[in-house]
Amino acid sequence: MGSVTVGVLRERARGECRVALVPESVARLAPGGVRVLVEPGAGAAAWFADADYLAAGAELVPAAELLQRAQVLLCVGPPDPATTAGLRPGTLLVGLLDVLRNPVAAGAWAEAGVTALSLDLLPRTLSRAQPMDALTSQANIAGYKAVLVAADTFARFFPMLTTAAGTSRPAAVLVLGTGVAGLQAVATARRLGAVVTGYDVRPESREEVESLGARFLEIPAVPAVRTGADGYAGRLAEAEQLAQQQGLEEAVARADVVITTAQVPGGRPPVLVTARALDRMRPGSVVVDLAAGRSGGNVERSEPDATVVTAQGVTVIGAGHLPSAMAAAASTAYARNAGAMLTYLLHDGHDDHDGGPTVDLSDEIQAAVVVTHAGSVVHPAVAALLDGRARLGGSR
Ligand code: NAI
Repeated sequence: MGSVTVGVLRERARGECRVALVPESVARLAPGGVRVLVEPGAGAAAWFADADYLAAGAELVPAAELLQRAQVLLCVGPPDPATTAGLRPGTLLVGLLDVLRNPVAAGAWAEAGVTALSLDLLPRTLSRAQPMDALTSQANIAGYKAVLVAADTFARFFPMLTTAAGTSRPAAVLVLGTGVAGLQAVATARRLGAVVTGYDVRPESREEVESLGARFLEIPAVPAVRTGADGYAGRLAEAEQLAQQQGLEEAVARADVVITTAQVPGGRPPVLVTARALDRMRPGSVVVDLAAGRSGGNVERSEPDATVVTAQGVTVIGAGHLPSAMAAAASTAYARNAGAMLTYLLHDGHDDHDGGPTVDLSDEIQAAVVVTHAGSVVHPAVAALLDGRARLGGSR
Protein backbone atom coordinates (compact mmCIF):
# COMPACT_ATOMS: atom_id res chain seq x y z
CA MET A 1 0.00 0.00 0.00
CA GLY A 2 1.20 3.49 -0.80
CA SER A 3 0.87 6.57 1.37
CA VAL A 4 -1.82 9.18 1.16
CA THR A 5 -2.15 12.77 2.37
CA VAL A 6 -5.44 13.52 4.07
CA GLY A 7 -6.64 17.01 5.01
CA VAL A 8 -9.10 18.05 7.70
CA LEU A 9 -10.47 21.59 7.78
CA ARG A 10 -12.48 23.33 10.47
CA GLU A 11 -16.14 22.80 9.54
CA ARG A 12 -17.56 26.03 8.11
CA ALA A 13 -21.32 25.43 8.58
CA ARG A 14 -22.97 27.63 11.20
CA GLY A 15 -23.39 25.83 14.52
CA GLU A 16 -21.31 22.83 13.44
CA CYS A 17 -18.92 21.90 16.26
CA ARG A 18 -17.78 18.49 15.02
CA VAL A 19 -14.49 17.73 13.30
CA ALA A 20 -13.82 14.92 10.82
CA LEU A 21 -10.75 13.41 12.50
CA VAL A 22 -9.74 13.48 16.18
CA PRO A 23 -6.20 12.96 17.47
CA GLU A 24 -6.93 9.32 18.39
CA SER A 25 -7.85 8.50 14.79
CA VAL A 26 -4.88 10.42 13.39
CA ALA A 27 -2.59 8.21 15.48
CA ARG A 28 -4.45 5.09 14.38
CA LEU A 29 -4.22 5.96 10.66
CA ALA A 30 -0.51 6.88 10.64
CA PRO A 31 0.92 3.32 10.61
CA GLY A 32 -1.23 2.60 7.53
CA GLY A 33 0.65 5.26 5.55
CA VAL A 34 -1.85 8.07 6.09
CA ARG A 35 -0.27 11.52 6.52
CA VAL A 36 -2.76 13.94 8.10
CA LEU A 37 -2.86 17.72 7.61
CA VAL A 38 -5.11 19.61 10.03
CA GLU A 39 -6.16 23.25 9.84
CA PRO A 40 -5.21 25.01 13.10
CA GLY A 41 -8.25 25.17 15.39
CA ALA A 42 -10.14 22.50 13.41
CA GLY A 43 -11.00 20.52 16.54
CA ALA A 44 -11.36 23.40 18.99
CA ALA A 45 -15.17 23.44 19.04
CA ALA A 46 -15.14 19.73 19.91
CA TRP A 47 -12.45 20.19 22.59
CA PHE A 48 -9.57 18.71 20.59
CA ALA A 49 -6.46 20.90 20.84
CA ASP A 50 -3.96 21.55 18.06
CA ALA A 51 -1.21 20.26 20.38
CA ASP A 52 -2.94 16.87 20.60
CA TYR A 53 -3.18 16.59 16.82
CA LEU A 54 0.53 17.41 16.60
CA ALA A 55 1.35 14.83 19.26
CA ALA A 56 -0.66 12.25 17.29
CA GLY A 57 1.51 12.91 14.23
CA ALA A 58 -0.58 15.42 12.27
CA GLU A 59 0.86 18.52 10.64
CA LEU A 60 -0.90 21.86 11.25
CA VAL A 61 -1.38 23.61 7.92
CA PRO A 62 -3.43 26.69 6.91
CA ALA A 63 -6.53 25.99 4.83
CA ALA A 64 -5.26 27.22 1.43
CA GLU A 65 -2.06 25.16 1.63
CA LEU A 66 -4.00 22.16 2.97
CA LEU A 67 -6.30 22.20 -0.07
CA GLN A 68 -3.25 22.26 -2.35
CA ARG A 69 -1.54 19.33 -0.68
CA ALA A 70 -4.35 16.99 0.39
CA GLN A 71 -5.27 14.06 -1.87
CA VAL A 72 -8.26 13.35 0.34
CA LEU A 73 -10.37 15.97 2.13
CA LEU A 74 -12.31 14.49 5.04
CA CYS A 75 -15.21 16.58 6.25
CA VAL A 76 -18.33 16.10 8.37
CA GLY A 77 -20.92 18.11 6.44
CA PRO A 78 -20.67 19.27 2.81
CA PRO A 79 -17.92 21.87 2.23
CA ASP A 80 -18.93 25.49 1.65
CA PRO A 81 -18.64 26.97 -1.87
CA ALA A 82 -15.30 28.68 -1.09
CA THR A 83 -13.77 25.37 -0.02
CA THR A 84 -15.24 23.60 -3.03
CA ALA A 85 -13.68 26.26 -5.27
CA GLY A 86 -10.28 25.54 -3.69
CA LEU A 87 -10.37 21.78 -4.30
CA ARG A 88 -7.87 20.48 -6.84
CA PRO A 89 -9.05 18.15 -9.64
CA GLY A 90 -8.55 14.56 -8.54
CA THR A 91 -9.16 15.29 -4.84
CA LEU A 92 -11.24 12.68 -3.04
CA LEU A 93 -13.88 14.38 -0.89
CA VAL A 94 -15.39 12.23 1.88
CA GLY A 95 -18.20 13.34 4.19
CA LEU A 96 -21.89 13.29 5.01
CA LEU A 97 -22.46 15.23 1.80
CA ASP A 98 -26.28 14.99 1.80
CA VAL A 99 -26.32 14.90 -1.99
CA LEU A 100 -29.85 13.57 -2.33
CA ARG A 101 -31.06 16.84 -0.81
CA ASN A 102 -28.45 18.92 -2.62
CA PRO A 103 -27.62 17.34 -5.97
CA VAL A 104 -26.51 20.71 -7.38
CA ALA A 105 -23.38 20.56 -5.21
CA ALA A 106 -22.59 17.17 -6.76
CA GLY A 107 -22.77 18.79 -10.20
CA ALA A 108 -20.20 21.38 -9.06
CA TRP A 109 -17.85 18.70 -7.70
CA ALA A 110 -18.09 16.72 -10.93
CA GLU A 111 -17.23 19.86 -12.91
CA ALA A 112 -14.25 20.51 -10.65
CA GLY A 113 -12.99 16.97 -11.26
CA VAL A 114 -13.46 16.07 -7.60
CA THR A 115 -14.33 12.50 -6.61
CA ALA A 116 -17.05 12.90 -3.99
CA LEU A 117 -17.96 10.07 -1.63
CA SER A 118 -21.05 10.58 0.51
CA LEU A 119 -21.10 8.49 3.68
CA ASP A 120 -24.85 8.94 4.10
CA LEU A 121 -25.35 6.73 1.02
CA LEU A 122 -23.63 3.77 2.69
CA PRO A 123 -25.62 0.51 2.54
CA ARG A 124 -26.99 0.19 6.09
CA THR A 125 -27.59 -3.53 6.19
CA LEU A 126 -24.25 -4.71 4.79
CA SER A 127 -22.25 -6.01 7.75
CA ARG A 128 -18.81 -5.16 6.33
CA ALA A 129 -19.96 -1.54 5.91
CA GLN A 130 -20.94 -1.16 9.57
CA PRO A 131 -17.62 0.25 10.84
CA MET A 132 -18.10 3.08 8.31
CA ASP A 133 -21.74 3.75 9.21
CA ALA A 134 -21.67 7.38 10.27
CA LEU A 135 -25.46 7.77 10.09
CA THR A 136 -25.77 5.13 12.79
CA SER A 137 -23.06 6.56 15.05
CA GLN A 138 -24.51 10.05 14.82
CA ALA A 139 -28.14 8.92 15.21
CA ASN A 140 -27.24 7.09 18.41
CA ILE A 141 -25.89 10.31 19.84
CA ALA A 142 -28.92 12.28 18.67
CA GLY A 143 -31.33 9.81 20.29
CA TYR A 144 -29.51 9.94 23.61
CA LYS A 145 -29.18 13.71 23.64
CA ALA A 146 -32.82 14.21 22.62
CA VAL A 147 -33.94 12.64 25.90
CA LEU A 148 -31.58 14.81 27.93
CA VAL A 149 -32.80 17.94 26.14
CA ALA A 150 -36.41 16.92 26.77
CA ALA A 151 -35.74 16.09 30.43
CA ASP A 152 -33.95 19.40 30.89
CA THR A 153 -36.93 21.31 29.49
CA PHE A 154 -39.71 19.26 31.13
CA ALA A 155 -40.71 20.87 34.42
CA ARG A 156 -41.36 17.54 36.18
CA PHE A 157 -39.40 14.38 37.00
CA PHE A 158 -38.91 11.57 34.50
CA PRO A 159 -38.83 8.78 37.13
CA MET A 160 -41.45 7.95 39.70
CA LEU A 161 -40.11 9.42 42.92
CA THR A 162 -41.36 8.70 46.38
CA THR A 163 -40.25 11.22 48.97
CA ALA A 164 -41.58 12.58 52.23
CA ALA A 165 -43.43 15.13 50.13
CA GLY A 166 -45.32 12.40 48.31
CA THR A 167 -44.98 10.41 45.12
CA SER A 168 -44.57 11.87 41.64
CA ARG A 169 -45.83 9.86 38.72
CA PRO A 170 -43.29 8.93 36.05
CA ALA A 171 -43.25 10.93 32.81
CA ALA A 172 -44.94 9.37 29.79
CA VAL A 173 -42.52 9.51 26.86
CA LEU A 174 -43.61 8.69 23.31
CA VAL A 175 -40.92 8.02 20.69
CA LEU A 176 -42.09 8.19 17.07
CA GLY A 177 -39.76 6.44 14.62
CA THR A 178 -37.73 3.74 16.34
CA GLY A 179 -34.72 3.32 14.06
CA VAL A 180 -31.26 3.94 15.48
CA ALA A 181 -32.00 7.32 17.10
CA GLY A 182 -35.46 6.28 18.29
CA LEU A 183 -34.29 3.06 19.96
CA GLN A 184 -31.52 4.95 21.74
CA ALA A 185 -34.12 7.50 22.88
CA VAL A 186 -36.35 4.69 24.16
CA ALA A 187 -33.44 3.14 26.07
CA THR A 188 -32.27 6.47 27.50
CA ALA A 189 -35.75 7.55 28.60
CA ARG A 190 -36.22 4.15 30.25
CA ARG A 191 -32.91 4.57 32.09
CA LEU A 192 -34.23 7.87 33.45
CA GLY A 193 -37.30 6.05 34.71
CA ALA A 194 -39.95 7.27 32.27
CA VAL A 195 -42.81 5.11 31.06
CA VAL A 196 -41.97 4.78 27.36
CA THR A 197 -43.99 3.96 24.26
CA GLY A 198 -42.43 3.55 20.81
CA TYR A 199 -43.93 3.57 17.35
CA ASP A 200 -42.65 2.85 13.85
CA VAL A 201 -44.02 1.56 10.58
CA ARG A 202 -41.43 -1.18 10.09
CA PRO A 203 -42.76 -4.58 11.19
CA GLU A 204 -39.56 -5.52 13.05
CA SER A 205 -39.90 -2.48 15.31
CA ARG A 206 -42.36 -3.98 17.77
CA GLU A 207 -39.90 -6.60 18.95
CA GLU A 208 -37.05 -4.07 19.14
CA VAL A 209 -39.11 -1.61 21.20
CA GLU A 210 -40.49 -4.30 23.50
CA SER A 211 -37.03 -5.77 24.07
CA LEU A 212 -36.08 -2.44 25.65
CA GLY A 213 -38.97 -2.70 28.11
CA ALA A 214 -41.16 -0.17 26.35
CA ARG A 215 -44.67 -0.51 25.02
CA PHE A 216 -45.26 -0.60 21.26
CA LEU A 217 -48.03 1.59 19.90
CA GLU A 218 -50.24 -0.07 17.31
CA ILE A 219 -52.26 2.00 14.85
CA PRO A 220 -54.63 -0.54 13.30
CA ALA A 221 -55.56 1.78 10.41
CA VAL A 222 -51.93 1.97 9.25
CA PRO A 223 -50.44 -1.24 7.89
CA ALA A 224 -46.82 -2.04 8.70
CA VAL A 225 -44.69 -0.86 5.81
CA ARG A 226 -42.48 -3.49 4.31
CA THR A 227 -38.83 -2.59 4.72
CA GLY A 228 -36.91 -2.27 1.46
CA ALA A 229 -33.68 -4.16 0.70
CA ASP A 230 -31.84 -1.02 1.86
CA GLY A 231 -33.44 -1.32 5.33
CA TYR A 232 -35.49 1.85 4.99
CA ALA A 233 -39.24 2.11 5.34
CA GLY A 234 -41.04 3.36 2.25
CA ARG A 235 -43.17 6.48 2.21
CA LEU A 236 -46.83 6.07 3.18
CA ALA A 237 -49.60 6.85 0.72
CA GLU A 238 -51.41 10.11 1.44
CA ALA A 239 -54.50 8.41 2.89
CA GLU A 240 -52.31 6.25 5.13
CA GLN A 241 -50.41 9.28 6.31
CA LEU A 242 -53.65 10.97 7.28
CA ALA A 243 -54.82 7.87 9.12
CA GLN A 244 -51.46 7.74 10.87
CA GLN A 245 -51.68 11.37 11.98
CA GLN A 246 -55.17 10.78 13.35
CA GLY A 247 -54.12 7.54 15.00
CA LEU A 248 -51.17 9.22 16.68
CA GLU A 249 -53.22 12.17 17.94
CA GLU A 250 -54.62 10.36 20.97
CA ALA A 251 -51.20 8.99 22.01
CA VAL A 252 -49.55 12.38 21.53
CA ALA A 253 -52.25 14.05 23.64
CA ARG A 254 -51.57 11.61 26.50
CA ALA A 255 -47.78 12.00 26.42
CA ASP A 256 -45.72 14.37 28.54
CA VAL A 257 -42.80 14.18 26.15
CA VAL A 258 -42.75 13.27 22.45
CA ILE A 259 -39.51 12.60 20.58
CA THR A 260 -39.77 12.23 16.80
CA THR A 261 -37.05 10.76 14.57
CA ALA A 262 -38.74 9.63 11.33
CA GLN A 263 -36.78 10.29 8.15
CA VAL A 264 -37.20 9.37 4.52
CA PRO A 265 -33.76 9.23 2.85
CA GLY A 266 -33.33 12.28 0.63
CA GLY A 267 -36.97 13.27 1.02
CA ARG A 268 -39.16 15.40 3.24
CA PRO A 269 -39.70 13.89 6.69
CA PRO A 270 -43.29 12.73 7.26
CA VAL A 271 -45.49 14.92 9.49
CA LEU A 272 -46.40 12.71 12.45
CA VAL A 273 -47.53 15.34 14.97
CA THR A 274 -50.07 17.78 13.58
CA ALA A 275 -50.82 21.20 15.03
CA ARG A 276 -54.14 19.71 16.22
CA ALA A 277 -52.36 16.98 18.14
CA LEU A 278 -49.97 19.52 19.68
CA ASP A 279 -52.90 21.61 20.83
CA ARG A 280 -54.30 18.61 22.67
CA MET A 281 -51.15 18.15 24.76
CA ARG A 282 -51.04 19.36 28.36
CA PRO A 283 -49.31 22.68 29.11
CA GLY A 284 -45.70 22.00 30.05
CA SER A 285 -45.37 19.08 27.64
CA VAL A 286 -42.23 18.90 25.52
CA VAL A 287 -41.77 17.81 21.91
CA VAL A 288 -38.32 17.25 20.41
CA ASP A 289 -38.22 16.93 16.61
CA LEU A 290 -34.98 15.31 15.46
CA ALA A 291 -36.12 15.53 11.85
CA ALA A 292 -36.52 19.31 11.90
CA GLY A 293 -34.48 20.79 9.09
CA ARG A 294 -34.66 22.81 5.92
CA SER A 295 -36.96 20.31 4.24
CA GLY A 296 -39.51 20.20 7.06
CA GLY A 297 -39.87 18.00 10.12
CA ASN A 298 -42.09 15.48 11.89
CA VAL A 299 -43.91 18.13 13.91
CA GLU A 300 -46.11 20.73 12.29
CA ARG A 301 -44.89 23.70 14.34
CA SER A 302 -41.24 22.80 14.74
CA GLU A 303 -38.59 25.15 13.38
CA PRO A 304 -35.02 24.10 12.59
CA ASP A 305 -32.63 24.78 15.47
CA ALA A 306 -35.24 26.80 17.33
CA THR A 307 -37.52 26.36 20.32
CA VAL A 308 -41.14 27.41 20.00
CA VAL A 309 -43.67 27.53 22.86
CA THR A 310 -47.21 27.15 21.56
CA ALA A 311 -50.15 29.19 22.86
CA GLN A 312 -51.18 26.06 24.81
CA GLY A 313 -47.81 25.96 26.56
CA VAL A 314 -46.21 23.07 24.68
CA THR A 315 -42.48 23.50 24.05
CA VAL A 316 -41.48 22.32 20.56
CA ILE A 317 -37.74 21.94 20.03
CA GLY A 318 -36.40 21.71 16.47
CA ALA A 319 -33.34 19.55 17.05
CA GLY A 320 -31.95 18.37 13.73
CA HIS A 321 -28.33 18.92 14.74
CA LEU A 322 -28.01 17.25 18.13
CA PRO A 323 -24.81 15.31 17.35
CA SER A 324 -23.04 18.66 17.13
CA ALA A 325 -24.23 19.38 20.68
CA MET A 326 -22.12 16.40 21.83
CA ALA A 327 -19.27 17.30 19.53
CA ALA A 328 -16.51 15.36 21.27
CA ALA A 329 -18.34 12.02 21.26
CA ALA A 330 -19.83 12.65 17.83
CA SER A 331 -16.45 13.57 16.31
CA THR A 332 -14.73 10.57 17.89
CA ALA A 333 -17.33 8.20 16.47
CA TYR A 334 -17.43 9.96 13.11
CA ALA A 335 -13.63 9.89 12.83
CA ARG A 336 -13.69 6.12 13.37
CA ASN A 337 -16.29 5.76 10.61
CA ALA A 338 -14.42 8.04 8.19
CA GLY A 339 -11.12 6.37 9.10
CA ALA A 340 -12.64 2.95 8.42
CA MET A 341 -13.76 4.12 4.99
CA LEU A 342 -10.31 5.48 4.23
CA THR A 343 -8.65 2.28 5.36
CA TYR A 344 -11.11 0.31 3.28
CA LEU A 345 -10.30 2.34 0.17
CA LEU A 346 -6.56 1.97 0.71
CA HIS A 347 -6.33 -1.63 1.90
CA ASP A 348 -8.66 -2.95 -0.69
CA GLY A 349 -5.90 -2.47 -3.23
CA HIS A 350 -7.41 0.66 -4.65
CA ASP A 351 -4.28 2.80 -4.60
CA ASP A 352 -3.04 4.36 -7.77
CA HIS A 353 0.66 4.55 -8.72
CA ASP A 354 1.41 7.59 -6.54
CA GLY A 355 -0.34 6.17 -3.53
CA GLY A 356 -3.72 7.95 -3.63
CA PRO A 357 -6.88 5.93 -3.33
CA THR A 358 -8.58 5.18 -6.62
CA VAL A 359 -12.19 4.39 -7.33
CA ASP A 360 -13.54 0.96 -8.20
CA LEU A 361 -17.21 1.19 -9.02
CA SER A 362 -17.49 -2.59 -9.32
CA ASP A 363 -17.13 -2.71 -5.52
CA GLU A 364 -20.56 -2.84 -3.85
CA ILE A 365 -19.77 -0.29 -1.15
CA GLN A 366 -18.03 2.16 -3.47
CA ALA A 367 -20.79 1.91 -6.05
CA ALA A 368 -23.25 2.99 -3.35
CA VAL A 369 -21.28 5.94 -1.95
CA VAL A 370 -19.26 7.42 -4.83
CA VAL A 371 -21.25 10.32 -6.24
CA THR A 372 -18.88 11.96 -8.72
CA HIS A 373 -15.81 10.67 -10.50
CA ALA A 374 -13.66 11.65 -13.46
CA GLY A 375 -15.76 14.70 -14.22
CA SER A 376 -19.19 13.04 -14.08
CA VAL A 377 -21.96 12.37 -11.61
CA VAL A 378 -21.76 8.57 -11.45
CA HIS A 379 -24.42 7.93 -8.79
CA PRO A 380 -27.64 7.07 -10.65
CA ALA A 381 -30.06 8.57 -8.10
CA VAL A 382 -28.12 11.83 -7.91
CA ALA A 383 -27.74 11.97 -11.70
CA ALA A 384 -31.51 11.46 -12.07
CA LEU A 385 -32.21 14.30 -9.63
CA LEU A 386 -29.89 16.60 -11.59
CA ASP A 387 -31.50 15.59 -14.89
CA GLY A 388 -34.92 16.36 -13.43
CA ARG A 389 -33.75 19.81 -12.39
CA ALA A 390 -32.19 20.47 -15.80
CA ARG A 391 -35.52 19.62 -17.44
CA LEU A 392 -37.25 22.07 -15.07
CA GLY A 393 -34.94 24.80 -16.30
CA GLY A 394 -32.15 24.37 -13.75
CA SER A 395 -33.69 27.02 -11.56
CA ARG A 396 -34.08 24.92 -8.40
P1 NAI B 1 -34.17 6.82 9.55
O1 NAI B 1 -33.36 7.82 10.31
O2 NAI B 1 -34.20 6.88 8.09
O3 NAI B 1 -35.68 6.87 10.11
C1 NAI B 1 -35.92 6.69 11.49
C2 NAI B 1 -37.09 5.75 11.71
O4 NAI B 1 -38.28 6.36 11.29
C3 NAI B 1 -36.97 4.43 10.93
O5 NAI B 1 -37.06 3.36 11.84
C4 NAI B 1 -38.16 4.48 9.98
O6 NAI B 1 -38.74 3.20 9.79
C5 NAI B 1 -39.11 5.38 10.72
N1 NAI B 1 -40.14 5.99 9.87
C6 NAI B 1 -40.02 6.47 8.60
N2 NAI B 1 -41.21 6.92 8.17
C7 NAI B 1 -42.09 6.75 9.20
C8 NAI B 1 -43.47 7.02 9.38
N3 NAI B 1 -44.20 7.58 8.42
N4 NAI B 1 -44.04 6.70 10.56
C9 NAI B 1 -43.31 6.14 11.55
N5 NAI B 1 -42.01 5.85 11.45
C10 NAI B 1 -41.41 6.16 10.29
O7 NAI B 1 -33.75 5.35 9.97
P2 NAI B 1 -32.39 4.82 10.59
O8 NAI B 1 -32.43 4.86 12.04
O9 NAI B 1 -31.27 5.53 9.90
O10 NAI B 1 -32.42 3.31 10.13
C11 NAI B 1 -32.70 2.97 8.79
C12 NAI B 1 -32.84 1.51 8.63
O11 NAI B 1 -31.57 0.91 8.60
C13 NAI B 1 -33.60 0.84 9.76
O12 NAI B 1 -34.35 -0.20 9.21
C14 NAI B 1 -32.53 0.31 10.63
O13 NAI B 1 -32.94 -0.77 11.44
C15 NAI B 1 -31.54 -0.12 9.56
N6 NAI B 1 -30.21 -0.22 10.08
C16 NAI B 1 -29.64 -1.44 10.06
C17 NAI B 1 -28.39 -1.61 10.56
C18 NAI B 1 -27.85 -2.98 10.53
O14 NAI B 1 -28.41 -3.86 9.93
N7 NAI B 1 -26.78 -3.19 11.21
C19 NAI B 1 -27.61 -0.50 11.11
C20 NAI B 1 -28.29 0.76 11.06
C21 NAI B 1 -29.55 0.87 10.56
